[in-house]
Amino acid sequence: MQAVLQYLEEHQNDFRAEFEEFLRIESVSADPARAGEVQRAAQWVRDRLERAGMRHATVHETEGHPIVTADWLDAEGAPTLLVYGHYDVQPEDPVDLWSSPPFEPTERDGKLFARGSADDKGQLILYIQAVEAWLETHKKLPMNVKVIFEGEEEIGSENLSTFLTSHAEELSCDYTAISDSGMFGEDFPTVTIGLRGLVYAQLDIETATTDLHSGSFGGAVPNAANVACAIVAKLKDDKGRITIPGFYDGIRPISQVEKDSFERLPFDVEEFKKSIGTNATPGEEGYSVLERLWTRPTLDVNGLLSGYVVEGAKTVIPEKSMVKLSMRLVPGQEPKKIEQALVDYIEQIKPEGSRVNVQLMHSGEAFLADPEDAAFKPAFDASCRALKAGFNAEPVVTREGGSIPIVNEFSQVLGCPVLLLGFGLPDMNAHAPNESIHLGVVERGRRSLAHLFGELMK
Ligand code: BES
Ligand code: ZN
Repeated sequence: MQAVLQYLEEHQNDFRAEFEEFLRIESVSADPARAGEVQRAAQWVRDRLERAGMRHATVHETEGHPIVTADWLDAEGAPTLLVYGHYDVQPEDPVDLWSSPPFEPTERDGKLFARGSADDKGQLILYIQAVEAWLETHKKLPMNVKVIFEGEEEIGSENLSTFLTSHAEELSCDYTAISDSGMFGEDFPTVTIGLRGLVYAQLDIETATTDLHSGSFGGAVPNAANVACAIVAKLKDDKGRITIPGFYDGIRPISQVEKDSFERLPFDVEEFKKSIGTNATPGEEGYSVLERLWTRPTLDVNGLLSGYVVEGAKTVIPEKSMVKLSMRLVPGQEPKKIEQALVDYIEQIKPEGSRVNVQLMHSGEAFLADPEDAAFKPAFDASCRALKAGFNAEPVVTREGGSIPIVNEFSQVLGCPVLLLGFGLPDMNAHAPNESIHLGVVERGRRSLAHLFGELMK
């Protein structure tokens, strides 16, 4: 192990340089104009895996963006770890709000700023570097390792789902490790045991076949912008509860043990508010902020469009409006049922004179692992040991409010424990301007993953 750590130490500059090269590739999966960049990122990852000593490094074309796989399976009789990550990134807009160009990695205050620095290029690459360190120093890994990196996580992992089912045999493994989440804080290496699920929908609303003069017609005709607001307003009550019938059905309450463990985390609501520049944490009554973020479902408008929105005034009644909604789900909620319940409810509440088309976009179940479960515990304990060794600090256990839609399929299709070992800090600005990763955490994370290969063997 000493030789591996020394290798990591000695190659820091190379690792940094290649990380920057990776970040310069504009692999925005949502942007059709940059499909070539997504392809280039896939190729980059494939080549890097090969250079690290992994075998069968392959770019698999799909109907969307490619999937990259590789393996190293010479640890005879040893268990197999499957590593998942995504090399696609979110769009960079609004680009004016970045302090440095999103695809020009820039260091400030010990952090590296670039789109994808934390989510997920900067986490994915750590596995490749840790593998290389083992293979260069020992000519072998302590266990078998397979990797699968996709280019569509940020747009819902649609093709990965099909690929998983059709390649279940090749991907069979004993454990899965994913680093695409966050840490509780800089000195809190974190094992995440829960993720929220997701239903995402777009409402397209129409009230007429033309925009209308707000004087000549106002008062006697429906208004698509007002309709959008009316629908949104009806989706929650004044206690923050979502009003869609059946929305809360089946939710599994959190255990007292978990509640207590949240209480013990040094979470400061005032600090939290300050960090995002707000003075309130509105949400469901009777739940702490962490409970609201990690264990309760949500409904949020993610986008809203209608009417005259450029400078100046125009007296007009819009004929059309559009609303994008995300609902984060928790264990026990079924995405398909929630989708149907939303469609039915909107049909019921939409005001007179409006046509509403509900387009369902992403859906995925929540994920929750139990550290006391006999099948999960050994892997969980190993990951705690690895993090402790890498960070020289005691790991904490958290859930996350975000979603990684494929995680459930990993645990169901491949039937193995999923370890979520994230290295993004709360200020990482994932999906927002000025995304960053802490360079100190990068090093400690890389060391932890190098330890993980050995710890899973104990
Ligand atoms: N890395 C995130 C998920 C995440 C975010 C985990 C924050 C933990 C903390 C992932 O890349 C992501 O953003 N997922 C999307 C999924 C969606 C596009 C289907 C999400 O959560 O919005
Ligand atoms: Zn993301």
